Amino acid sequence: MSLISILKKKNRKYLFTTPSHNGNLCIMHKFYQWYRNDISEVDAYNPQEALSQAEEKASQIYNTKSTHFLTNGSTSGIIASVLTCCKKGDKILIWKNSHKCHRNASILAGTEIIEYELELNKAWGVYKPINTKALELLLKENMPKAVIITSPSYEGLVSDIKSISELCKKYNTYLIVDEAHGALYPFSDNLPQSAIPYADFTVQSLHKTAGGINPTALLHCNCELSPIEALNMINTTSPSYPMLATIEANINYLNSSNGRKKIERLINNIKLIKSELKNLEFFGDDVTKINIKKEGLSGYELSDILFNKFNIEDERTNEKSTMLLTGLGTTSRMLAKLFKLKKL
Ligand SMILES: Cc1ncc(COP(=O)(O)O)c(C=O)c1O
Repeated sequence: MSLISILKKKNRKYLFTTPSHNGNLCIMHKFYQWYRNDISEVDAYNPQEALSQAEEKASQIYNTKSTHFLTNGSTSGIIASVLTCCKKGDKILIWKNSHKCHRNASILAGTEIIEYELELNKAWGVYKPINTKALELLLKENMPKAVIITSPSYEGLVSDIKSISELCKKYNTYLIVDEAHGALYPFSDNLPQSAIPYADFTVQSLHKTAGGINPTALLHCNCELSPIEALNMINTTSPSYPMLATIEANINYLNSSNGRKKIERLINNIKLIKSELKNLEFFGDDVTKINIKKEGLSGYELSDILFNKFNIEDERTNEKSTMLLTGLGTTSRMLAKLFKLKKL
């Protein structure tokens, strides 16, 4: 039985167990349904088995050795990956400006951190994907146990993960890809290639672009190591089954024809907008990240105008450009508002 069905099941037992709200006491009424579905590992439900089955099904969908549901974001997936493949004193390569969880994971594992830099694209104010030749030099020089690559970047720039994985194999280095911003990639040929088939560990945030609730995420493994011990070390022993059920439903939706059609509709709508707005410049490998630049305006000025004149809040801005993040919940109606930027 799926996790989703277990939560729908009517329980006929008197539960003298945790959680003590028992699905009856609902202190914050707005979340009534959440309390009703908030169960523990009691025999009356046995959600652990359903969770294992849901993760196995996900592993088949993503074609991985194993896929793990995360309820503490990509952060926990990165930490578990590093703890799994590195031990105290091992060298790890991380990007100097990476998300802070890369450094924290490396510290928790007791690794020796070696930082690498990425070149800046000066015209757009964003970091370029990693240069494969530069990476090979770093691997040759340091022989690290693991390397973490962020791909896509926040702005949707994608590194050549296939070539990077070949290099990592050559130098016996585990490849961890932070694909936090690329959770839609496995479900459309019109988006960049996902790292999942090539990396040893790929981490994706469902909550960023794939319609998941905060902070649901996935850890995909495609190597001989299992992250289960590491996940058990950092995770609570009282997981939130409502959150885990949303992950199961989220993957089912992404993999359904309705989900895939929705992704294509999003992509086509954005392509149309980009082709119509001739007064703006667009950039990036991932069409769903709308990186915008306007001649004569800094990124910050553009961001202010979008916010104050057009009621649009961007995801991230730098000196040169600003970025609007879109995802499964970005409606056609919201996107249609962007046509007004013709007047900008
Ligand atoms: C590139 C990158 N990696 C990892 C994370 C952490 O993800 P989460 O919020 O799902 O823990 C973020 C969050 O902003 C991110 O931008």
